[in-house]
Amino acid sequence: MSGLLVITGASAGIGRATAAHFADNGWRVINLSRSGCDVAGVTHLSADLSDPSWPDAVGPELKPLLDQADGTICLVHCAGLLLKDNVREVTADALASSLQVNVIAASQLNQLVLPHMTAGSSVIYVGSTLGEKAVAGAASYVTAKHAQIGLMRSTCQDLAGSGIHTSCVCPGFTNTAMLRSHVGHDNEILDSLAANVTMGRLIEPEEMAQTIWFAAHSPVINGSVLHANLGQLER
Ligand SMILES: NC(=O)c1ccc[n+]([C@@H]2O[C@H](COP(=O)([O-])OP(=O)(O)OC[C@H]3O[C@@H](n4cnc5c(N)ncnc54)[C@H](OP(=O)(O)O)[C@@H]3O)[C@@H](O)[C@H]2O)c1
Repeated sequence: MSGLLVITGASAGIGRATAAHFADNGWRVINLSRSGCDVAGVTHLSADLSDPSWPDAVGPELKPLLDQADGTICLVHCAGLLLKDNVREVTADALASSLQVNVIAASQLNQLVLPHMTAGSSVIYVGSTLGEKAVAGAASYVTAKHAQIGLMRSTCQDLAGSGIHTSCVCPGFTNTAMLRSHVGHDNEILDSLAANVTMGRLIEPEEMAQTIWFAAHSPVINGSVLHANLGQLER
């Protein structure tokens, strides 16, 4: 099966690897992010998803591209914002930004793409281990990633009968700029994160791309949360 991948956050990390994986398998790819995507053949639409009015400019660019789609569409919500904050101090602005990029932008994009989707299409959310548990110091992210799972479950229920399936793929510690920057590019912290996983290493972005590919091709997991974290050790 090939078709059209519409993805956010394919300028880097997991999104970039996913765009490359789908393109390598014959899919056309449209990416939405602020900076460009260097995967050959990808159509890039510049979008700052932290601005709630982003659809005003991007919607008219996206529509003619979607009008040309003549098969299944896979929509992957991969762009994410990870802030450091906690329940005592998180500001309303930080919480709003996190919800905007991680959740509300996905809902906005759903409304642009869903009218073009036919049976066999899919909506895949890239969540996080922190969609179903919390750690200290990431209050806005934990809150938004929990909300994202709610949006995925509503997607499943509200699209019943359409033949479109959805799921939330939840990466563990993945070797990307987001993780490296979150730990201050400290290799000792990265090593300690890897040591907290049964496999003793970080996930590579390509492994997440393969999991997202599986989710896109697997209607049987409609409505599911898929944890893809190499088995985190429970202490
Ligand atoms: N890495 C991990 O350990 C890990 C673990 C759990 C979950 N995740 C999730 O995996 C997803 C991908 O993360 P990653 O690790 O691959 O991070 P990454 O390498 O830093 O990539 C983040 C992507 O999000 C896009 N993005 C961020 N803010 C945006 C904005 N305002 N508007 C448009 N695009 C924006 C970035 O594009 P531009 O900067 O070009 O706009 C970039 O393409 C995220 O949803 C993240 O929460 C990652």
